[in-house]
Order: sequence, then C-alpha cells, then structure tokens
Amino acid sequence: MSENARIDIQGKSIEAPLLIGSENEVGIDIAKLRSSTGAITFDPGFVNTGSCQSAITFLDGEKGILRYRGYPIEQLAGESNFMEVSYLIINGELPTETQLTAFEKDITYHTMLHEDLKHIYNAFPKNAHPMAILSCIVNALSTFYPDVGTEDEEALRLAVSRLLGKITTIAAWAYQKSIGHPMVYPKNNLDYCENLLHMMFSVPAADYEVPDVFAKALNVLFILHADHEQNCSTSTVRLVGSSKANLFSSISAGIAALSGPLHGGANQAVLEMLQEIHADGGDVQKFVKKAKDKNSGFRLMGFGHRVYKNFDPRAQIIKSYCDEVLELVGVEDPLLDIAKQLEESALKDDYFVEKKLYPNVDFYSGIIYKALGFPVPMFTPLFAIGRLPGWISHWIEMNNGPAKIGRPRQIYTGPNERPFVPITKRG
Ligand code: ACO
Repeated sequence: MSENARIDIQGKSIEAPLLIGSENEVGIDIAKLRSSTGAITFDPGFVNTGSCQSAITFLDGEKGILRYRGYPIEQLAGESNFMEVSYLIINGELPTETQLTAFEKDITYHTMLHEDLKHIYNAFPKNAHPMAILSCIVNALSTFYPDVGTEDEEALRLAVSRLLGKITTIAAWAYQKSIGHPMVYPKNNLDYCENLLHMMFSVPAADYEVPDVFAKALNVLFILHADHEQNCSTSTVRLVGSSKANLFSSISAGIAALSGPLHGGANQAVLEMLQEIHADGGDVQKFVKKAKDKNSGFRLMGFGHRVYKNFDPRAQIIKSYCDEVLELVGVEDPLLDIAKQLEESALKDDYFVEKKLYPNVDFYSGIIYKALGFPVPMFTPLFAIGRLPGWISHWIEMNNGPAKIGRPRQIYTGPNERPFVPITKRG
C-alpha cells in the first residue's frame, strides 16, 4: 500500500502521508493541505474526521467491537469492576492488587464535598435538572482546588482522585436537593457503587441497606459507559482542554455536552418514550410509523449510532443483563415488554434495516436504572459518572500529546465586503 495519498486541487497537489493505526485503520494526514493548496476539508459533524491519535479505546462499528486498552468490553463487564476499569483506562494497564487498593483508597478519601458548596446547591431552583447541577458543581470545584496541568504528577493524581471521589456525592446531592431531603454524607467503608446508592437512598433517620445485586448492576453499567473514544462529550473535553482549561472545567463542559438527548440524554428520553407508548395503549407500530415520518420530528430514542452500523456491543450486554437484573430485583416492568416489542418491530422494518439503525447502549440502561430505584432525571448523571474515567484519560492524553489548540476552519457563506451605513441613512 502507498504510504501517501495524492490530493489534487485546482492545479495544486500534495502528497499527504497516511497514518496507520494499530488495528490498521487508515487516516490521511492533511496537516499541510491548506498551506500547500489553500483548500480546507469540509466535514460537518466530523463524520470522516480524525481529531487525534489515541491509545485508549478501540471500536469497530461494523464488527461491533469495543475494547478499552485492548481488553474486550465483554470480558471487562463480566470479570472486572468499575474501579479496576477506571484504573485501566486512566493508567493504561490493569492494576496489581496493591495499585488497585491505593487507587481506591485515594478516591474514597476524597468523597466529601467542601461544605461551602452547599450554598451553591441552595441557590438552584428545586426543579433544576441534576445534569445542569452536576456540570455546574464540577466546574465550581476549580474554584476550591488549584489549577493543575499534567506536569506535576502528584497534583494531577490528587485532582483525578478528587474528581472521581466527589462526582458520586455531587450527583446524589443534586437528587436530594430536588426532593427536599437533607444531603447524605458518603460512608467510606462502602465501595464506589454502594456508596452512591447509599447517598441516593439513605436518609438521616434510616440507612439504606445496599443490595449486592444493585451494586453489581451499577458496576456493569458504569463499565459499559466508561469510554467510547471521540464521541461528542469526549471531543468536547479534549477541545476545551486544548486551550489549557483546567481538568474540572473541561469535564464540566463534557457533562454539558452529554446532557443532550442525541447523546447521553437519550437514556432519559428512551424511558420517557416507553412511558408515553405505554400510556398510549402500548401500540409500538404506531410509534415506529411516526419515527419513519420525517415531518413528525419524532425519532425512536435509543436507536441509531454514528459509529455502530451493525450492533452496539454494549446494548447486547445490557439486554442480556436486563432480564437477569429484573428477575433478581423482583420487578416486572411492562416497559421492558414494550422495549422488546419495539426492538423486534424496528429490526424487521425496512426503514431501520436500510439505515442500519439498531438499539444503542441507552435503549435498555434506563430500564435497569429504574428497577434499581433511580428517578428518571438521574439516568444521564449516572452515564456521566460512568464516563468520567474516559474523559479524564482523554484530557491527560491530549495534554501529554502534541495537541494544538482545537480550532476548526469554516467555509464562509455571509455577505461580501460592504460599506457601513449610518443608522439615519438605513431603510
Ligand atoms: N429514529 C428514526 N430515524 C432515525 C433515527 C432514529 N432514532 N436515527 C437516525 N435516523 C435516520 C435519520 O432521520 C436519517 O435519515 P435520512 O438519511 O433519511 O435523513 C438517518 O437515519 C441518519 O441519521 P443521522 O441523524 O444523520 O445519523 P447520525 O449518525 O448523525 O446520528 C444519532 C446518530 C444522533 C445517534 C441518531 O441515530 C439519533 O438521533 N438517535 C436517537 C437518539 C439516541 O438514541 N442517541 C444516543 C446515541 S448513543 C450515545 O450517545 C451514548
């Protein structure tokens, strides 16, 4: 194979080197395109654009492959836990027992929030969405803790531990605030997922006994969400961080990006859609038809993915896990039946087959979150907690790499130069 691609544009040409990834993906390095030819590439939505080289996650959307640092998602979900996977994603290798113990200890040590943060919580309206609170409080951490870069390893380790330790408390407090309950403090004898469940569902008058199966289910869901290479929120973290914005602010921006219904907010939107179908009498065909009608403005939430065009391996794991969890939890949820009918109908429908629209990770995750007792607005914050190690790892990789500040170009379509007209002479 040639190691260069030749690009001819309006009589000018360049030899653009090919970049070959470790799984043989091919990229064309067009760094010299504009300086040599005056042209830029145009790729709305970055459908064909690689923004960086990364050693964190590999995914093949055609084959349904997802691996963190080389380890298949199926093995990690089946045999590991969220803390171990977080260590792997951030540090590049699986930890030894000693390394994992130290990592967990560091994170646990930082689960409490500065008491002054409560003033900020108190200023939010009661019905504030917890994703907005999460993004805001994570950004506010940068006002409490010094700005760090990647040069000082110890300071960076501290910032990472703080973020991983505090995010569960921040999210749980957002929920407590919304229902008018006192904020529940973390209990550091509990593990990461148990602690989150405790802060969500305990009240000062009564401790919540965390069922093992609930903590295990959260572990699996968090592992499945832990990284997904250059998706919208991760690209946001990298782009914001490329200006040398601090870790907390960059992650706060990623949380904001995740909140949209076309990205992480889809898990809330899926459950609301299933509830709507149920309330409407459960006729899934009616909603499949509506989703195919471009004028309806309605999409089947939890269907389709920019990268997966065959199946989403995370959705397959969650689907198989869904029945098991619901049975263990002892919940019979009519929404699960509707979800299965919807999936079956869509997978047989020419529109969805031709456009390669399959259930994505968000299609079944909400049903599990609901069975564990989480209120619907907390679904996307749970996604954010799961995605945190990925965001952190990308922020560090970007800062340690040769990255320039992110600054796309544009094709200008506005007016050509024209003289200013004083207001008295207009119209
Ligand atoms: N329901 C109905 N039609 C759909 C759906 C859907 N869920 N998703 C895509 N389509 C159609 C589009 O209308 C479009 O049709 P057209 O080619 O005739 O115009 C075609 O399929 C391609 O869709 P795009 O939006 O161009 O695909 P893109 O790759 O840009 O978007 C996305 C992917 C945003 C996930 C999209 O499939 C979608 O909106 N899905 C629903 C929301 C969702 O579940 N988001 C979660 C994604 S996973 C995650 O972020 C964790």
